[in-house]
Amino acid sequence: MPDAALEAVGITAGYVPDLPILLDVSLRAEAGSVTVIIGPNGAGKSTLIKAIAGLVPVSRGTVALRGQDITGLRPHHMARHGIAYVPQTDNIFRSLTVGQNLDLALRRAGSAGPDRLARLLDRFPALADKRGDKAGALSGGQRQFLAVAMALATAPQLILMDEPSAGLAPKAAQEVLEFARDLTEQGVTILLVEQNVNQALRLADHCYILAEGRNQVDGPAEALLGDPIVAEIYLGGKRLRAGA
Ligand SMILES: Nc1ncnc2c1ncn2[C@@H]1O[C@H](COP(=O)(O)OP(=O)(O)O)[C@@H](O)[C@H]1O
Ligand SMILES: [Mg+2]
Repeated sequence: MPDAALEAVGITAGYVPDLPILLDVSLRAEAGSVTVIIGPNGAGKSTLIKAIAGLVPVSRGTVALRGQDITGLRPHHMARHGIAYVPQTDNIFRSLTVGQNLDLALRRAGSAGPDRLARLLDRFPALADKRGDKAGALSGGQRQFLAVAMALATAPQLILMDEPSAGLAPKAAQEVLEFARDLTEQGVTILLVEQNVNQALRLADHCYILAEGRNQVDGPAEALLGDPIVAEIYLGGKRLRAGA
């Protein structure tokens, strides 16, 4: 099998030493695909994304990017390796304008300049119209698009998104998810956490279900859509222990 865009193997990680939240979690994301992580609240989905992004210490296991070990790299080094992380909340500066947010993201990426800003805005017409507005005045959907636009400033190959559609109206949620899907046409790999399970399964290529910090089930998203195992894991009625 060729190297995956991202491969996490046997990840044990947590916020406090000796109190692991994730136990032996593995995940693979193929280049140019959308992989979704679902599971009940507190399953460890955000922790997994953060562990991959270098924001939560990994005590066991490895994270590899196209076969290169990046386990435990500091978050600011992740960008150099082509990884961008879009947190679920606090992912934009509300008191700055849209243009200032994007300029900041481009500066951080070491590629500021009017050309770069214009090219970034070209991809987000709704934001271009509002480039002088305070980010805090945007709609929820537009704020999420701004966060994605900021992530794109580093020209990432892998984007980690934590519940990009949380709190959005269904139409805005669909737009954000479809935008993520469309990014894969340029070869970008998307790994996202979603609570809108059916919407996410319709859009993703592959799905991992986590519960209680462990892998439960994974498979092609299409196959899991409508599979009763999904609801069973959500309701806690059934759990499959890895290896059990
Ligand atoms: N900053 C933190 N410090 C300590 N424990 C945390 C922190 N964030 C989350 N947790 C704990 O980690 C577990 C998994 O949380 P999380 O990864 O946020 O779950 P999910 O995203 O699946 O809802 C929960 O028990 C939660 O209380
Ligand atoms: Mg979460």
